[in-house]
Amino acid sequence: MRIRKAVVPAAGMGTRFLPATKSIPKEMLPIVNKPSIQLIVEEAAASGIEQLILVTGKGKTEIVDHFDAHPRLEESLERAGKYALLEEIVRPTKLVKMSAVRQQRPLGLGHAILCARDLVGDEPFAVFLPDDLVDAPRPCARQLMDLYEKTGQSVVALMNVPREETSQYGIASGTVNPDEARHMLISTLVEKPSSAEAPSTLAVVGRYVLSPRVFHYLEHTTPGKGGEIQLTDALAALALREGLGGWLFDGERYDAGDVAGYLQANLNWARKVPRLWQAVQQYVQRHS
Ligand code: UTP
Repeated sequence: MRIRKAVVPAAGMGTRFLPATKSIPKEMLPIVNKPSIQLIVEEAAASGIEQLILVTGKGKTEIVDHFDAHPRLEESLERAGKYALLEEIVRPTKLVKMSAVRQQRPLGLGHAILCARDLVGDEPFAVFLPDDLVDAPRPCARQLMDLYEKTGQSVVALMNVPREETSQYGIASGTVNPDEARHMLISTLVEKPSSAEAPSTLAVVGRYVLSPRVFHYLEHTTPGKGGEIQLTDALAALALREGLGGWLFDGERYDAGDVAGYLQANLNWARKVPRLWQAVQQYVQRHS
């Protein structure tokens, strides 16, 4: 079945980025000159997603505004003949159809996804965690969608992490498909295990393609780690009863919800703009 919809949970409080995120949603912090959420929406559109459901909370209205038309600004740029800039602000409004649903209390990522249930309906859908920016030759979500369309099984993106970092991720283990080394059938999924308890070093990163059956498991998930309703716990139940795939994606992931990861993401995307990259290199030379 074709995947047309994606859910983007963006109702978290972004405590790792305080004080910046006290009054600015972290999804609006720029990577070079685009809010990071725009990179997510661009990846979704490039993957073939047609409708994006944003889960928002208090103080997140700017995200929706960014993808709305701005007639006064558009007219002013047009009058000034600034057509390239005009294109830059109009293009994001046309990438996907966007709707938003509120999560009234931040009860956890699993709960945020459950809030999108009515808008998703009874069809498979993608999930993008907006902190995770992935620079990939083929969009990361598209890689997962290809696998879903082949196997009909829910799938999560996986990457290898150093053992001392397992406590920052959901960690998966299982068996590797003998015909495709990137594909794994997941048997165990644990939320943020210590390095001693981690069943492997394969971490789940923020791209998923899920069967609508996941809502059933989310509904029955009780608060887990941190008192939050965890998506990992629902996926662990789904893995046990219906099977869950993992895909070791091709690409590089940046955690833009963390200050160091955010700076690295900025450098990575600045590298694609020769004028900016030259300025960065000159700066580094002067200071090293
Ligand atoms: P995080 O655990 O990274 O939380 O959420 P956070 O609040 O965004 O950031 P920190 O850790 O406090 O700095 C993972 C994803 O789940 C969403 C977040 O917006 C983020 O995209 N989320 C989390 C929700 O939408 N609702 C929640 O209740 C919790």
